[in-house]
Amino acid sequence: MASFLVTNSGPLKGKVTINGAKNSVLPIMAASLLSDGIITLEDVPLLEDVNVMCRLLEHFGICLKWDNKTLYIDNSQIKPKPAPYELVRKMRASFLIMGPILTRFGNVKISLPGGCAIGTRPIDLHLKGLAAIGADITLGHGYIEARAQRLVGSRIYLDFPSVGATENIIMAAALADGLTIIENAAEEPEIIDLANFINAMGGRVRGAGTDTIKIEGVGRLSGCTHTIIPDRIEAGTFMVAAAITGGDIILTNVISDHLRPVEAKLKEAGIQIESVEEGIRVYKNGPLNTLDLKTLPYPGFPTDMQAQMMALMCTLPGTSMITETVFENRYMHVSELKRLGAKIKIEGRSAIIEGVDRLQGAQVKSTDLRAGAALLLAGMFADGTTEVSDIHHIDRGYERIDEKLRSLGANIKRLN
Ligand code: UD1
Repeated sequence: MASFLVTNSGPLKGKVTINGAKNSVLPIMAASLLSDGIITLEDVPLLEDVNVMCRLLEHFGICLKWDNKTLYIDNSQIKPKPAPYELVRKMRASFLIMGPILTRFGNVKISLPGGCAIGTRPIDLHLKGLAAIGADITLGHGYIEARAQRLVGSRIYLDFPSVGATENIIMAAALADGLTIIENAAEEPEIIDLANFINAMGGRVRGAGTDTIKIEGVGRLSGCTHTIIPDRIEAGTFMVAAAITGGDIILTNVISDHLRPVEAKLKEAGIQIESVEEGIRVYKNGPLNTLDLKTLPYPGFPTDMQAQMMALMCTLPGTSMITETVFENRYMHVSELKRLGAKIKIEGRSAIIEGVDRLQGAQVKSTDLRAGAALLLAGMFADGTTEVSDIHHIDRGYERIDEKLRSLGANIKRLN
């Protein structure tokens, strides 16, 4: 099984280019199912999760072609069929095909996604939204089936601003009759990217990025060309890499506005962040302070940066605190960080982190994507060598992270 060997790297220095966002490209690839033309997606990150979505699209007979980071999607031979457990269990975002297939073909059957390491992650809000616009939903033998002669626009209030549910409902409503209004919608930048993509295909989605999104259904959606927005979580991870190693790096291909919550917390810790011509510069030039943060839906602090910030907090002098409010079980990395000598106590939804002068390299295991990234970060600070195993989790969401870190001076090696 592959693993990363990391040894204390000293301050990272140099320039790194951020990829297209994983959490944008996955729903956008699902939304391509709405179109009857050729879709061209630019700046597609080469990730394991993107591979899984490609396999799912190919399962429906869709023809895909790559040219470097550009993906061409041709739906002309599409034949919807049940989405099997082997594909859906590999990646929860597979469930995003439900809305587009249902609205385009009147029927969709998909395996239930099941739980994952960071919690039970139910899909009730997706189903509630689709039912509100006319889907007849049945469950049996591990599959969900939804049918509708026509979906009809309606007003939907989400009990929680779920990213996936907001996306599934927007996609289903894009070809429904009349107006759908989603209230308490997710406001993440990836929702805006999805709306821009649907609008580029000829759709009518307004209000994305606010808590009220209005979708006016149209008769058909055509082909288009769209560039994926930069990945704010990859960017945030590199910002923490600069912070934890006391480095000085420049990130290019970033949208600073999307990084506001992460920037705010890093600045509060004493990290310097400046806009420069090519992007943003992140560096340390003085002592750091402890932090107290709470994960929240956007524009709150992203849960996908919680583990990486915890790695940093392990190195800050004094007591820091995290409260995780988005997922109920997203502290799997704590026991692994403790193997490196971190002092962390969990109390309910909060983690209390006592900073230490040094961490010590050890064998650790990535339990999920961001947990794996946190262990790499901690390994760059630790004395000796840290071996991070189960790195397929990291490859799901970071393209060539080892090469990118090495280009900044990190001591990191992939062992196959
Ligand atoms: C997306 C992101 C993921 C990120 C998460 C929160 C993608 C591909 N993944 O996941 O990286 O961590 O947003 O920012 O974009 N919930 C329900 N019922 C539902 C749906 C969700 O109770 O029907 C709960 C979940 O269990 C969780 C919370 O809502 O506690 C947030 O989930 P959601 O926003 O839906 O996350 P995802 O779309 O799965």
